[in-house]
Amino acid sequence: MRRDRPRRLRTDGLRPLVSETTLSPTDLIAPVFVDATTDERVPIESMPGHERVPVAEAVARVEEIRETGVEAVILFGVPESKDERGSRAYAEDGVVQRATRRIAAETDAYVITDVCLCEYTDHGHCGVLEPDAASDPTLTVDNDETLDLLRRTAVSHAEAGADMVAPSSMTDGMVAAIREGLDEAGHESVAITSYAAKYESAFYGPFRDAADGAPAFGDRRHYQMDPANAREARREVRLDDAEGADVLMVKPALPYLDVVAATREETDRPVAAYNVSGEYAMLHAAADRGWLDLAATAHESLLSIKRAGADLILTYFAEDVAERL
Ligand code: PBG
Repeated sequence: MRRDRPRRLRTDGLRPLVSETTLSPTDLIAPVFVDATTDERVPIESMPGHERVPVAEAVARVEEIRETGVEAVILFGVPESKDERGSRAYAEDGVVQRATRRIAAETDAYVITDVCLCEYTDHGHCGVLEPDAASDPTLTVDNDETLDLLRRTAVSHAEAGADMVAPSSMTDGMVAAIREGLDEAGHESVAITSYAAKYESAFYGPFRDAADGAPAFGDRRHYQMDPANAREARREVRLDDAEGADVLMVKPALPYLDVVAATREETDRPVAAYNVSGEYAMLHAAADRGWLDLAATAHESLLSIKRAGADLILTYFAEDVAERL
């Protein structure tokens, strides 16, 4: 006799009652690209539906997102100019600072800012270079020299009105340095989401087009994590937790769901996952050919990321998925 029939749980009446995972617009964070080099919105070719917007359009862009029910945005900046030390990243009148001021004053959005130097340095690396880095492939970013610039960037975002800063450079000690800078400047209530386990991934390609942040030479293997490693991610998470990160993020998401689950076990703080540009672009490319159903695969992707243990998801699908919930 067949006693246990799991299918009994799958009737239309019972299925929703026993559903283990839910997705809500308030779980999602939508990326916004603000661009100081344009007066008009510019579509991003490799990320259909996304565009770079001038500061003057930032509020309108955020309002569009909020109409879908998504309440949080993360800002990325494309500066008017780049230099060796990424000085437009921490300029009071930098593109992210200007956009943040307006969004904070004119909307109720929860404003998060990405804190990194790669979009602002002329060499495209996420920090200050070691002296011979351009010619010596064993060298790249000087970790400790970079900390001060990240701290200044985060404080300048907080002064502009950011609710949360999200350091993404994988600089050792970045969370402690930023926490200290924020507290000294009187921004104790500004939260930090750390990109705690960020991998040196090939899935960031479309973003690097969007934000113009590809390294001019070499790659990021000296500071971003090796895709082969999962135990090491637990260690990164413990360190950032101890340094006072309020939320711990794993990036990318879908190819690293084991790491999302491990992070969930490792900390009792909220866990975020970044469903990155390549994860978005792949589904669009396949859907364009009629090979996949875009809405269904996007929803299933985000649900899987939550099921693996993420509380929050940063995703380019935020608006599209939220609208259908
Ligand atoms: C900046 C940064 C990157 C992404 C987010 N912040 C690029 C990188 O590390 O190369 C990638 C996001 C995406 O692919 O969606 N360091």
